[in-house]
Parts: sequence; structure tokens; C-alpha cells
Amino acid sequence: MGTSTASSPTASPLPRSSSSLPVLYLVVPVVLISAGLFALAGSRVELASPWKLRVTFESPWPSSYSEENQAAFAPASAPENEPPMEQPEPDETVAIEEPVRAVKRYSRFERLEASLSRARSAIREAALVRNLTSVHADADYIPQGPIYRNANAFHRSYLEMEKLFKIYVYQEGEPPMFHDGPCKSIYSTEGRFIHEMERGHNMYRTTGPDEALVYFLPFSVVMLVHYLYEPGSHETHAIGRAVVDYIDVIAAKHPFWNRSLGADHFMLSCHDWGPRTSSYVPNLFSKSIRVLCNANTSEGFDPFKDASLPEINLKTGEIFGLLGGPSPSRRGTLAFFAGHLHGHIRYLLLQEWKDKEDPDVRVYDKLPRGVSYESMLRQSRYCLCPSGYEVASPRIVEAIYAECVPVLISDGYVPPFSDVLNWKAFSVQVQVKDIPNIKKILMAISPSQYLRMQRRVKQVQRHFVANGPPRRYDVFHMTVHSIWLRRLNIRITDSA
Ligand SMILES: *[C@@H]1O[C@H](CO)[C@@H](O)[C@H](O)[C@H]1NC(C)=O
Ligand SMILES: *[C@@H]1O[C@H](CO)[C@@H](O)[C@H](O)[C@H]1NC(C)=O
Ligand SMILES: *[C@@H]1O[C@H](CO)[C@@H](O)[C@H](O)[C@H]1NC(C)=O
Repeated sequence: MGTSTASSPTASPLPRSSSSLPVLYLVVPVVLISAGLFALAGSRVELASPWKLRVTFESPWPSSYSEENQAAFAPASAPENEPPMEQPEPDETVAIEEPVRAVKRYSRFERLEASLSRARSAIREAALVRNLTSVHADADYIPQGPIYRNANAFHRSYLEMEKLFKIYVYQEGEPPMFHDGPCKSIYSTEGRFIHEMERGHNMYRTTGPDEALVYFLPFSVVMLVHYLYEPGSHETHAIGRAVVDYIDVIAAKHPFWNRSLGADHFMLSCHDWGPRTSSYVPNLFSKSIRVLCNANTSEGFDPFKDASLPEINLKTGEIFGLLGGPSPSRRGTLAFFAGHLHGHIRYLLLQEWKDKEDPDVRVYDKLPRGVSYESMLRQSRYCLCPSGYEVASPRIVEAIYAECVPVLISDGYVPPFSDVLNWKAFSVQVQVKDIPNIKKILMAISPSQYLRMQRRVKQVQRHFVANGPPRRYDVFHMTVHSIWLRRLNIRITDSA
């Protein structure tokens, strides 16, 4: 299913957030033709007009972020009409000229899609193992326990990613706005990812665009804002023009953007204006994979195709000294927050708690003299992480690093990696309207439940650590895994 029935985009059967459908698909009918016919049609089309490929969407994974979707780990029917496992090379006798090169490229492309198809089936099969511990072998780490939605499916997916996933990084554009980014500060995840893809020795990057499963657009929104935006001017059209020009160049010079209208391309940004910057190119906004810290569902963030990037405040660029904290029995403070009045959620929090001077709920806009922020994180059992000017907060990862149970206070925020992580197991989520009840809510959590959550915070920490160079299962690899899952959601097929 999903490949032979015609449906219009509006007829999508997808209830996004509450789906228990094991297989999600969207958009577009695809007609699969036998290999031989296909080669013929492909070359004809190449002669007549540029390729047009269509994109179907399907997921091996339960709907990505609904809390209720554990049921979605139920058996998923394998799609019919899988592309052929191995496509024969085109006939030598026809392999002479221009159109034939297109045929070759097509068949390689088809093999890539077939490998993805096998990965989907493997992950679906792994999802049937409802065991808290992955059954796959691994020298470094075996995912297990309730921090995962399904440890076995995640593990299988991760291993498939390591085998198959290839990312091509476009070379167009000049530093510093392209190929560069900040590796310190609250925007560090943006710069570090770009740097790793540009200069790291990771297993995912390929220099052969025909081998790639996704295409990275390595512009830095932080740098675009820095160089093209005049503070206070509220004029962002220069940024918009830069992005529009860039995509025009990419689409003109390479066949890949037009082929999928950007659906197998991704951008990544930790800047508040990441979503806005993507909006200047409609297909970048609505079709491409956007990896964003500002993962606000009210601003078009779509967890089905977009991925939430953690915000990590690396003041010195190093993680040295940031990891770890005392055991629960040595944490005397119930809850802690310190931060400026940024945005309405913090306003409500500060207004409610700042002047109460409750010894259990210590909320400050400015820390008292002699009190260190880091030591407060370490002596608190719960760390409050309200949204600021935008939904993401670097406090979530600060809390996880300091082994303090994070309390997320936000609206419309999709936390990072929530397609594989079960945030409820290691964090508390408080609705904005419940800010006055924070103390009651936290006091109602039993000591043994707290101990379990705190232990899980320590376990999940590895997925947020910004190692340099990256190590398996850390924040870099988890970010790549988010992109991998979104690529698995789509299938690109020739519509010729
Ligand atoms: C879960 O998997 C582990 C490791 O393979 C195995 O030892 C254990 O028996 C399994 N538990 C259940 C309930 O299947
Ligand atoms: C992609 O489409 C655009 C707009 O239709 C066109 O200008 C461009 O030449 C196309 N690119 C390629 C490589 O054919
Ligand atoms: C999320 O987006 C909506 C719509 O633009 C906005 O009203 C809200 O303030 C945003 N949330 C945060 C925390 O910035």
C-alpha cells in the first residue's frame, strides 16, 4: 500500500498527532513499472524534458511524537510493490550517450531506494520485539529501558543508519555564511554540526552526490543574521534573498533539488530565526527536512518531516566539567530556575515564584551574590526549563548534564529526539497554566519515582553529549539519526 493507490495531498489519511497507524503515508500516487520498461521510459523522458520525480511518504516508525502511540509498535504490514532489490545494470548495447547516463543514474538511485525499503522492513520487524532491552549486539552500548519508546527498534534503526546513510554536502557558497557557524554559545549545536559535516571524519559524509540519500544545505542562520541583519532594523529581506539565491543556484547546477522539490534536502539551525529563514523558499519550508532548535508546532514545525535539535549552551566550546552531579540524597533544593524575563512563559514563572522566596522552589531573574548557577543545578532535584523568546531552552540539556530532572514548561514544543526517546520517563512536563501548581506537582512525585527518573536522566545523558570528535550515540549521531528517520519517511520515485 502507499504506492499504487491514487490520492491527493488533501485526502491524506493522516491524523498527525494521535495516529496509531503503523504506516504513515502522504501525498502522491506512484506508478512502479517493471525494470525494463522503466529504463526505456526513463531515457525517453530524459530526452524530452528534465526528470520529474515524485515523493511518497511512508514511515517505518510509529507516528513520531504522540505520547499515546506505544500501540503503534504493532505489526506493520509491509508495503506491496517494493522496488526491486537489485536492479540490473542497463543493457550494455544501449549504454552510449546522454540519455543512457540518465538510465544508469536512475538504476543506482533505484537501488538506494530499495536499500531503504529493506531498512524500513528491518525496523518494522525489530519494533515487534516488545522487550525493554535491544536484542542486537553492540560493542559500545545496548539501548534499554523505558527512556526509549522501543529500544529494539531504535537500535536496529541506528545500526541500519550506520550501514546505509550517506549525506552529500553542497559546496556552493562561501564562508563565513556558508560552511561555517558558531561552535560556542547557545547556538553551538548549529556550528558544531556544520563543522563536523564539513571537516569531520564521520562515516556519513559522501563526496559523491549520486551515492547520497540526503543533501545538506550548509548555511548558518546565525552567520546570515550576523552579517546581513542590521540590529533593530526589523529588515530581514537580505537574509531572505541570500537563501533564495542559494537554493536557485543549487537547483540550477544539480539535478537533486528539482527531483524531489527539496524533500531529501535538509537545513539545520539553532537560531530563533531558523524557521523564518526557511520560509523564504516555500519548498524549503514545506518539503525539506528542517532541523531546528526552534521546534514550535505553532510556527509550522512538522514533527513528521522536521527534526528538533537540542540547544546546548557551550560557553567555552568545551563540555569539560559540565557532566555529572551529586546523588539525589545530596540535592537539598526541590526546584530551581534562574534567568531573565524572556517571553511570556518566563514572565508567568517569575511573577508567580520569584518573590515568594519559597525555600523549595527557588526562582530568580538574577542570582543572589555568591550563589553559582552551576552549583544550583547540582544541588536541585528538579530544574525548571521554561521556554524563553522561543520554545527551546538550553536549560534542558544543562539539567541533563548536571543530572537534575528537567521540568519542561512550554507550549507547542517538540523536544529533541522524541521520535525515539520517551521523555515522560526522565522529565516532568508542566503546562503553562499549571505554573502556580509547580510545587504541588513536584511534591506529588514519590521519592522512588524521582529516583527512577534521576537514574534515567543519567542514562539518557549520552545522547546529548557534544563530544569532539563525536562518539557513537552522542548528540551528533542522534541528530543524524533524526534526519535518517525523516528520510525513511519518504520514498522518491520516478513519475515518468
Ligand atoms: C529480553 O531480551 C533479553 C536479551 O535478549 C533476554 O535475555 C530476555 O529474556 C528478554 N525478555 C523478554 C521478556 O523477552
Ligand atoms: C530546476 O528547476 C528550475 C525552475 O523550474 C530551473 O530553472 C532549473 O534549470 C532546473 N534545474 C535543472 C538542473 O534542470
Ligand atoms: C510559538 O509560536 C507561536 C505562534 O507564532 C507564538 O505565539 C508562541 O509565542 C511561540 N512560543 C514560544 C515559546 O515562543
